[in-house]
Amino acid sequence: MKILVTGGLGYIGSHTVVELVNAGYTPVVIDNLSESDIEVKDRIEKIIGKEIIFEKVEMCHKEEMVAMFKKHPEIKGVIHFAAYLIVNESVNDPLKYYYNNLVSTIYLLEVMQEFNVPSIVFSSSCTVYGNPEELPVSENAPIQPAVSPYGNTKKMGEEILRDTAHAKDINVISLRYFNPIGAHESSIIGEFQDGPPHHLVPYITETARGLRQELKIFGNDWNTSDGTCVRDYIHVVDVAKAHISAVERLINNKIEHNFEVFNLGMGVGVSVLEMVNAFREATGISIKYSFAPRREGDVEAVYADTTKANSTLNWKTEKTLTDAMRDAWNWEQALMNEQKN
Ligand code: UD1
Repeated sequence: MKILVTGGLGYIGSHTVVELVNAGYTPVVIDNLSESDIEVKDRIEKIIGKEIIFEKVEMCHKEEMVAMFKKHPEIKGVIHFAAYLIVNESVNDPLKYYYNNLVSTIYLLEVMQEFNVPSIVFSSSCTVYGNPEELPVSENAPIQPAVSPYGNTKKMGEEILRDTAHAKDINVISLRYFNPIGAHESSIIGEFQDGPPHHLVPYITETARGLRQELKIFGNDWNTSDGTCVRDYIHVVDVAKAHISAVERLINNKIEHNFEVFNLGMGVGVSVLEMVNAFREATGISIKYSFAPRREGDVEAVYADTTKANSTLNWKTEKTLTDAMRDAWNWEQALMNEQKN
């Protein structure tokens, strides 16, 4: 059975493509290659030991999507990752984000209806909860106004999908990711950085490698156990596997509502200082850090109530924070070796 994966050469997309193949599905990978490299296709193929179907498609050109669906009539479901995701960039160039992330989703939904493909898994984010009043945060927590255009595209994306699911023959599972980290245990795929990293773990691994002098920890005066922000970090392979559970729930008609939402996290809050310690415990490397002012738009603490995903999606995390740190460091070293050669 063919499953369309948009943005399938990106960080979470590539890991999900591997898990789809492991689970016996045939992914049809589309990507416009604006934020990814075609070389990721070769990397995926190296892991799975066979070729994958890839089409370079610009989702904001509807005719390209129509042509792709025509070419692959066996597509039965969609996993939609393709989106821009750099928070700062979205603040400086909001229209780029609203156009790309929302127009692509609208066209996708239109074309899915045209080709009678009713099932879609959407990449959402815990950013929709803002600074939650209650922790751990459950799917019933109120949605907060977004602090960035990027966050707003996730919030609006969910609204577009929810309204379409109510009105049309479309079933949606929206997965709200907390903080995906780590890499495939083969160290063949992982998160690629284009310039200084935007996220904590790549910053830690690049500091350990000597590419960065030190980690600047954004704030040590938050109202948390050690004063640094608290997040819910989850191994990217566990995130990828949740997509298989979600897609199976949709295509096997197990859904109870035509718009369902699940949190994907470990369910544990970990501070930035605890992350630095976890990296040391997993790798034996102590990185240099100093405290810097708070980063604009950061929330103090957010971690997931994963009860619903565990019971309803029949999914739970298999990897630990130590696994994630070890895999992130192995990936960084693999990149370093490739760049040397
Ligand atoms: C960020 C985005 C969020 C987005 C998510 C996934 C912001 C404000 N939030 O989440 O909207 O959904 O990525 O793309 O950009 N940290 C440091 N020093 C660093 C880097 C990070 O102290 O150099 C801290 C941050 O303050 C935060 C934690 O590490 O407390 C995690 O940061 P990050 O990996 O950027 O993820 P989020 O801020 O949770």
